[in-house]
Amino acid sequence: MNSSEIILLQNVDRPNSESIGVYRESGGYKALVKALKEMKPGEIVEEVKKSGVRGRGGAGFPAGLKWSFVPKESEKPKYLCCNADEGEPGTFKDRVLIERDPHQLIEGIIISCYAIGIHTAYIYIRGEFVKGARILEQAIAEAHENGFLGKNILGSGFDVDLYVHRGAGAYICGEETALMESLEGKRGNPRNKPPFPAVVGLYGGPTVINNVETLSNVPHIVTKGGDWYAGIGTEKSTGTKLFCISGHVQKPGVYELPLGVPLKELIYNVAGGLGEGHRLKAVIPGGSSTPILTAEEAEKVTLDYESLEALGTALGSGAVIVMDETTCIVRSTWRLSKFYEHESCGQCTPCREGTAWMEKILARIVRGEGRPEDIDLLADICDNIFGNTLCPMGDAATGPVLSTVRKFRNEYEYFIEHKRSIVGN
Ligand SMILES: Cc1cc2nc3c(=O)[nH]c(=O)nc-3n(C[C@H](O)[C@H](O)[C@H](O)COP(=O)(O)O)c2cc1C
Ligand code: SF4
Repeated sequence: MNSSEIILLQNVDRPNSESIGVYRESGGYKALVKALKEMKPGEIVEEVKKSGVRGRGGAGFPAGLKWSFVPKESEKPKYLCCNADEGEPGTFKDRVLIERDPHQLIEGIIISCYAIGIHTAYIYIRGEFVKGARILEQAIAEAHENGFLGKNILGSGFDVDLYVHRGAGAYICGEETALMESLEGKRGNPRNKPPFPAVVGLYGGPTVINNVETLSNVPHIVTKGGDWYAGIGTEKSTGTKLFCISGHVQKPGVYELPLGVPLKELIYNVAGGLGEGHRLKAVIPGGSSTPILTAEEAEKVTLDYESLEALGTALGSGAVIVMDETTCIVRSTWRLSKFYEHESCGQCTPCREGTAWMEKILARIVRGEGRPEDIDLLADICDNIFGNTLCPMGDAATGPVLSTVRKFRNEYEYFIEHKRSIVGN
């Protein structure tokens, strides 16, 4: 494992890194030339499979395998959607890739389209990312001017059109089927699966949906090969990952590290540790919906898919939220529950009603009106939501509540008994 390998962020600190000139000076678009001139589409899919790269949007599904589910021949047009909705609380990595290296993403999208036989692609970008959308539009125009997009790319006979579509502020539109509904101009309600998007997706055509970070890896995999990529990280969690670390650390930010790095290395060395005199209390390892880790767990775990799953949580989007001893676990869980209540699309009863009830119960505990039976009631509501909803957001909403009830039950008991937080306010 080469611990100093920087792949995705290698360009971001150069002046004018968003321009095609700077991107090309550092070798940009050479992977596209290689793909179109030297590789067959199937070979690219094989390299991506070999690389082992897993989706960086949260679910961690192997990208090459997802691509191979798309039928080669299709009566309906096939589509690629780049998921740039970036709504998971704590996550702010795709924004850096979009604003500081848009051509890396665009090159990844074009190569991916060539590999899967797609001629129309969309970048679905979070509505609040006004600057990012503008930068992408400019970069797409530059790519057209240079013959990398549009008809007959670099004389290969291969065509791709790429469009930017801005969301309108709904977290649920980051869920892949809601994203497609929204792109089609409808309310962003998740669809039932199956059928899966790879078979019946956007406008009924086979569709690949991948995260910004996933697609940004593709040019590098084409240039250096799947085996090279698979040699970084751990055996099953390959490559580097962008970690967005926030909360009680000295140097919050986006850092690229090989998967498998100890969480304590990220917190104490890379992000400068906690404030002086403070100690670690808990860590949310992969975005707000991933179950919380206690300090003891956080000190031991490594940041890879398997190690976090073994602790009942997940790598998610790589959003690490660090909490020191001043954090009130009950209040922070209440805050997250407000988010999920607000963002539930309301289609299924367990999520719509359950998220609202969890928020109400947590709010009354925080007001000092909690009842001892509320703690088990919260766990019972989670149990009734989990596995009983149309999309994964129901399960996601239970993550913070159930894990804090289990691991920090004493804080709930204290709040209910003393009508104030265990941290003293
Ligand atoms: C409620 C919800 C919100 C999501 N938001 C995002 C998001 O903002 N960005 C993203 O890439 N994936 C998001 N996802 C995951 C997508 O559904 C999908 O798995 C992902 O875009 C696939 O790309 P990947 O395989 O490259 O990770 C979300 C999922 C759920 C259930
Ligand atoms: S789980 Fe929640 S967000 Fe997902 S479809 Fe059901 S109500 Fe909507």
